[in-house]
Amino acid sequence: MTSLPEAYDTPGAGPPADFWRRELAALGGRARILDLGCGNGAVALLAAETAAARGARWEIHGVDRASIDPLRSLPARYRDAAAAVTFHPGTSMARTPFDAGYFCLVTGQFAFEYGDPSLIAAEVRRVLRPGGRAAFVIHLQESAVVSGAAVELAHLRETRELFDAARTVAAVSGGAASLPARLAAWNRFGREFLRLERLADAQPERRPVATLREVPAALRDALTGAIPEPGDPLGPAGARDCGRALADLDGALRAREGRLAELLAAAPDRAGLQRLLGETASRGLEVLARADLHDPGGPLLAHAVTVRRPRHPE
Ligand SMILES: C[S@@+](CC[C@H](N)C(=O)[O-])C[C@H]1O[C@@H](n2cnc3c(N)ncnc32)[C@H](O)[C@@H]1O
Repeated sequence: MTSLPEAYDTPGAGPPADFWRRELAALGGRARILDLGCGNGAVALLAAETAAARGARWEIHGVDRASIDPLRSLPARYRDAAAAVTFHPGTSMARTPFDAGYFCLVTGQFAFEYGDPSLIAAEVRRVLRPGGRAAFVIHLQESAVVSGAAVELAHLRETRELFDAARTVAAVSGGAASLPARLAAWNRFGREFLRLERLADAQPERRPVATLREVPAALRDALTGAIPEPGDPLGPAGARDCGRALADLDGALRAREGRLAELLAAAPDRAGLQRLLGETASRGLEVLARADLHDPGGPLLAHAVTVRRPRHPE
């Protein structure tokens, strides 16, 4: 659920979901659907909700190479839909466990461009029944999603120094350091906090600043929750808890940094997009339709492509 701007970060919201609804509308009452690189199942869940609303009997599978567990990680309101999908963690899009010709629809939202396009195209053709379709929503370097990811990544990297200062505060407050040493650590934290506040204030209008505001606030809360007054000492248990809270936050944000860096590396430019589509063509999949997806406000979000395995081999 981390691949789109926040407004579309739920199954069923925004132009990509409208694209998926159109693809799903073409299916009959019985269908088998495979979602590649499904993550927490943004597309698979939409398919499950659509099937439930239509009373259709769709068998839905999602594969991802990561150790996904959407039933546990999603909020309760998605549990019914998630329970209707069979998720396959630790499974490559290039080598899925399904029989040839098993699916009538293969989907991939911000997935195809993450793997080896030649191997994925071959696998898609293998698992599609003749006449079956595959649809992909693909990042583009020039999209608002990618430029937003670049800004967020830069802002996350800006918070590293503050993390370091926070860790120092926790360490010196819990150790045998003198009061001046503890206060010096707090001063460094305060200076860095203010620097990030000024950086957030200086961002051009419309550029997201949530990271620059929320990460410092979370760090401040983690410290002040354990240390009421700057300079106060921390007992060993308090120092351990505070250190753990900082480490957890750090781990979550560095994982987010990793995902954003991966997104920036995966997103093709227009020439790269042509090469991806060339791989589908060379694997015998014909392009039925393709279009840029725009936010209603104008910005480009992604490119959508629908391909088909021909009913009869040439
Ligand atoms: C940007 S996320 C998209 C997730 C989901 N489709 C969505 O729209 O929210 C890309 C996903 O592709 C998965 N992925 C990347 N390379 C893969 C591969 N070779 N095989 C299977 N999954 C892969 C990642 O683990 C990640 O969950």
